[in-house]
Amino acid sequence: MASEKVLAHLDANRDRHVDQLCDFLRIPSISSQSVHRDDVRRACAFVADELRGLGLEVETIETDGHPLVYAQTEQRADRRTLLFYGHYDVQPVDPLELWTTPPFEPRIADGIVYARGASDDKGQVYCHIKALEAYVRTGTELPVNVKFIIEGEEECGGHGIYRYTESHADKLRCDAVVISDTTLYNETTPGICYSLKGLTYMEIRVKGPDKDLHSGSYGGTVQNPANALAEIIAGLKDKDGRCTVPGFYDDVLDLDRDERDGFAALGYTDAILKAETGAPAAFGEAGYTTLERMWARPTCDVNGLVSGYGGEGAKTIIPARALAKVSMRLVPNQDPEAVAAAFAAHVKAIAPAGVEVEVINHHNAAPVLVPRQSPLMQAGMSALKQGFGADPVFIREGGSIPIVGTFQACLKAPVLLLGYGLSTDNIHSPNEKFDLVNFWNGARTTAILLAEAARG
Ligand code: BES
Ligand code: MN
Ligand code: MN
Repeated sequence: MASEKVLAHLDANRDRHVDQLCDFLRIPSISSQSVHRDDVRRACAFVADELRGLGLEVETIETDGHPLVYAQTEQRADRRTLLFYGHYDVQPVDPLELWTTPPFEPRIADGIVYARGASDDKGQVYCHIKALEAYVRTGTELPVNVKFIIEGEEECGGHGIYRYTESHADKLRCDAVVISDTTLYNETTPGICYSLKGLTYMEIRVKGPDKDLHSGSYGGTVQNPANALAEIIAGLKDKDGRCTVPGFYDDVLDLDRDERDGFAALGYTDAILKAETGAPAAFGEAGYTTLERMWARPTCDVNGLVSGYGGEGAKTIIPARALAKVSMRLVPNQDPEAVAAAFAAHVKAIAPAGVEVEVINHHNAAPVLVPRQSPLMQAGMSALKQGFGADPVFIREGGSIPIVGTFQACLKAPVLLLGYGLSTDNIHSPNEKFDLVNFWNGARTTAILLAEAARG
């Protein structure tokens, strides 16, 4: 248990912490849009200033893209070291008209803060910062050495942090990496995440005639890129919802009996899925439950599809081009590069004659699996139980955090995924939100973790 003084300080400062979080959320740090370049830097400076104010040694590290913040407390040889990772950048906000209030004007209603980045990931990063603040401000000796590495390119697939981790493994050396960028199981049950999906993100470009053609004059004489792309996409999956890219499932690690039983015991139902998503029905790979599909089966999905005329009324053309963005969410032990290559070869093989097809691999992330039994997991479980006042369950996530694989490979330290969000927080969607109870409990949990990790 963290000292009562530390926890009492967190409780006494709740309102101020929310006000300060709102200041952080007001900065529109959208990493993928160049008009926000300066805003991204302001968010970086916000984090750096905050950590400097707590007496840490802080560095802003320039990269080819957006800067990193590195910070550390005094590093004592007789203490363990925790490295906290998070990201201060956020996703774009479109479609803006679906936000009830503007995304960068935080609004608090019924104990929930609404703003882009509230849950993913500014609010969760702030739990770490405020936990540390409580130790510093109460003059409580830290049970562990603390390091922070906070990036500004998580949401845009930037590479700055990979290069930095590879070249500064010694500086980032730690006994464990702690990340709060995932979710609780639900409102009443904390969860500890032991697996993230990986990702390979592809684009298919289909080129036909030099320009859009009159569909009466030329229709039936040349291949239509939109039709051709539809044929390609139809060839990516079968009727049972399985991906047809050759070798796609070869390296997939099957769920063990324990995991399947554990998932089933959580009592997730398709009614919950329908309520959360508004989808008319559950759908997915035959032979698996919804939770198994969500957490442990690889996927292949069109993320965007563009061709021809979509405006008012009718326009009679054969479009010159068609484009699709396709993501494959991967599971242990699939290899993103190998899947990307197999995908490209498959698309070329099934493409109909009469068009030129180009396949681009945008970015990749390795899937993550960490052991469920370890002293670090025990420390995380214990911290969650005390911080949220309920027994945590084991969960997996369908989302990806690309740097985790690099941390595992370069730092050779165990990773703890201690998420404080909810799957209903609307991350990447309009009206993103973060429950203030989870914010406060997240800060408490982090404070307790420092003590638990020192012991475990
Ligand atoms: N925090 C998310 C990852 C996540 C999503 C965890 C859902 C748990 C549940 C992270 O910021 C994210 O959005 N990752 C991207 C990575 C991509 C841009 C390479 C993702 O999963 O799409
Ligand atoms: Mn995130
Ligand atoms: Mn995200």
